[in-house]
Amino acid sequence: ATILCVVGARPNFMKIAPIHAQLRRSGKLRPFLVHTGQHYDAAMKDAFFTQLGIPEPDVDLGVGSGSHAWQTAQIMQRFEPVLDEAAPEAVLVVGDVNSTIACGLVAAKKQIPLIHVEAGLRSRDRTMPEEINRVLTDQISDLLFTTERSARDNLTAEGIDPSRIHFVGNVMIDALRAQLERAMPAAQTLQRHGRALPPQYGVVTLHRPANVDDPDVLARLLNVLAEIGRRLPLVFPCHPRTLQKIEAFGLQDMVEGPAITLLPPLGYLEMLGLVKDARLVLTDSGGLQEETTALGIPCITLRDNTERPITVTEGTNTLAGRDPERIRRCADEVLAGGGKRGRVPELWDGRAAERIVTILERHWG
Ligand code: UD1
Repeated sequence: ATILCVVGARPNFMKIAPIHAQLRRSGKLRPFLVHTGQHYDAAMKDAFFTQLGIPEPDVDLGVGSGSHAWQTAQIMQRFEPVLDEAAPEAVLVVGDVNSTIACGLVAAKKQIPLIHVEAGLRSRDRTMPEEINRVLTDQISDLLFTTERSARDNLTAEGIDPSRIHFVGNVMIDALRAQLERAMPAAQTLQRHGRALPPQYGVVTLHRPANVDDPDVLARLLNVLAEIGRRLPLVFPCHPRTLQKIEAFGLQDMVEGPAITLLPPLGYLEMLGLVKDARLVLTDSGGLQEETTALGIPCITLRDNTERPITVTEGTNTLAGRDPERIRRCADEVLAGGGKRGRVPELWDGRAAERIVTILERHWG
């Protein structure tokens, strides 16, 4: 039987890699890989495919960037004939990006069973496009695989039949564990970009519209980051969206100098190597909240909420929002040696993809 797997944006790649590899090993199931083209730059896509050992997609829809409605609609239109032609037994989507809901909706309308990996996470913040994608994808999914136990309660509260829900662990942590030994040393990554690695450093990432699309909000964040950076130098691999905003708002001065080292987006192995030896990570990414928890690195999340609460209750994550005073206090605590140590959550053991494929084989093997 064929399982059509969808990827679209950077955070999807590390989730699909272990699932695709496990499907290739299955004697009963075959993967068919569709990339929507939501992320297309070499730094946002090719580096990940190569480093994570994902084969070239069977089909690339080549959609590219645009408004939410445009992008979602383009993906749907281009995906429909591909789905007809591939005629899979099921469609598997991961995460919460526009590609997830777009392809999920096409499959559901054609009554092709839909599998959602990383189901049931809720920030309860509907101003985030990802929250809308999560809620809607879960509603139309036939099989829902979760990364933490709280997800089941979220799903059953929304009327999802518990028999469809399987707690399997975290496929992104499968990828992390599989690749940790191959991570690129941070000093080498910095050197490749003509920069030197400070003996101790923190890592910053920022890309949420709520943090980067408003000039005042972004300037205030960069300001407190520069302040922290004067005590612990910060390395900042910058998402293309954020770089565009920094330039458009004329904020380049704030990310030049020894406090903040600005880098282009990094590949998976470069990023992993950088994060694993950091003293601290400041981020608004969903994935990094989990990766830092798995690695035991203190994480300060520059958002008011998280859809991944286990990273706070058991892991190393602290929610600091976007108030400079609060962010500074959280950083002070870590720098004074009081950062959270945390523990690795249940089933984040590198075997989530195995569990998923075993269940898929029961259905379609
Ligand atoms: C998307 C996801 C977000 C995820 C993020 C990770 C949605 C709604 N958002 O946000 O959940 O955390 O990916 O990166 O799906 N761009 C490039 N090159 C690329 C891709 C994008 O330069 O390869 C630029 C374009 O100017 C584009 C902008 O980045 O307009 C935003 O890209 P888009 O895919 O719309 O959203 P992200 O902010 O990346």
